[in-house]
Amino acid sequence: MTLLEARGLRKTFALRSPWLRRAVGSSVALDGVDLDLRAGETLALVGESGSGKTTLGRSLLRLVEPDDGELRFRGEDLRALRPLELRRRRRDLQMVFQDPGASLDPRQRIGDAVFEPLRIHRLAPRADRSSQALRLLAEVGLTAEVLERHPHELSGGQRQRVAIARALATRPALVVADEPVSALDVSIRGQILNLLADRQRELGLALLLIAHDLLLVGRVADRIAVLLRGRIVEEGEAGQVLARPLHPHTRALLAAIPGRQRRARGAGGVVRRGVAVEGWLGGCAHRASCPLATERCGRETPALVESQPGHRVACFRPGEGAPPERDGGGTFALDRRSEGRR
Ligand SMILES: Nc1ncnc2c1ncn2[C@@H]1O[C@H](COP(=O)(O)OP(=O)(O)O)[C@@H](O)[C@H]1O
Ligand code: SF4
Ligand SMILES: [Mg+2]
Repeated sequence: MTLLEARGLRKTFALRSPWLRRAVGSSVALDGVDLDLRAGETLALVGESGSGKTTLGRSLLRLVEPDDGELRFRGEDLRALRPLELRRRRRDLQMVFQDPGASLDPRQRIGDAVFEPLRIHRLAPRADRSSQALRLLAEVGLTAEVLERHPHELSGGQRQRVAIARALATRPALVVADEPVSALDVSIRGQILNLLADRQRELGLALLLIAHDLLLVGRVADRIAVLLRGRIVEEGEAGQVLARPLHPHTRALLAAIPGRQRRARGAGGVVRRGVAVEGWLGGCAHRASCPLATERCGRETPALVESQPGHRVACFRPGEGAPPERDGGGTFALDRRSEGRR
């Protein structure tokens, strides 16, 4: 069942000069995004820095107002909701941010922080604060020890666990997690990602997992969508996208993962960070670094079309050229079911 449906989402930011106090240009963050999120699934949204992942994640929850496009949650027009209705709907639509330090109030005790969503949505009486907070903290692997502490007294990983407990407190139908592990120490990223994946499965919620590391999130995702300069260029079942990426940009993202450079070189071109959006004249956004680019790629922008059942790609030459090399035993595709969710 489709839970959230986005059609033709667009968002352009004005670039303002701090000195001139006026717009000096614009940056197209979303350039007509169509995306469906199904109930109970994990969709990994990946792309290089500046591709529009954060803007898309926030637009889906109306934390950023899109300029144009449709947004339906359980068939209801989300963009038509008034502020009060939207605040009520927040119970179903939650977000986990990249920096757990910034998303928690430094003066608030952890117990209060975790209980707050239940208080706001009137899901539990104040008298139950401690017991409810303990229950929610236990779900993310924390004990009573942290209840009366402040955020600065916790480690980064513990803070992100608290942020996850807060996001899940109201039992939302959808959680958008924007790079939830990239601000954390490498050694604990796997733990926190697995915690999110486990809670997603147990609660049956839809999770939009935003990341730049395709392999890391691909491992726990049902589907993968790849964003390039505000457009989805590839989308499909996770195992299929990882095993047989059809878009040269997806191949380049896989090649950019440390340790894979040599093996995947030449598979799809290079990932270039921080490419200026201004002055973009159309055509395929990957063409400057695409080994398959032709003259047509500069003239026309490829549409996202189904290339194989359930696998959509926006490229004039999908799947052509040498695919990324696989590990010896063909383990390039990390199958979610056979791998489990360690
Ligand atoms: N508040 C903002 N004001 C101006 N430009 C913005 C703002 N937020 C995002 N952008 C621009 O929109 C584009 C997409 O940004 P973002 O959604 O943050 O990408 P990502 O999360 O993939 O790194 C970038 O070019 C960025 O500079
Ligand atoms: S449309 Fe052309 S430039 Fe773009 S990814 Fe495909 S082959 Fe490369
Ligand atoms: Mg971002």
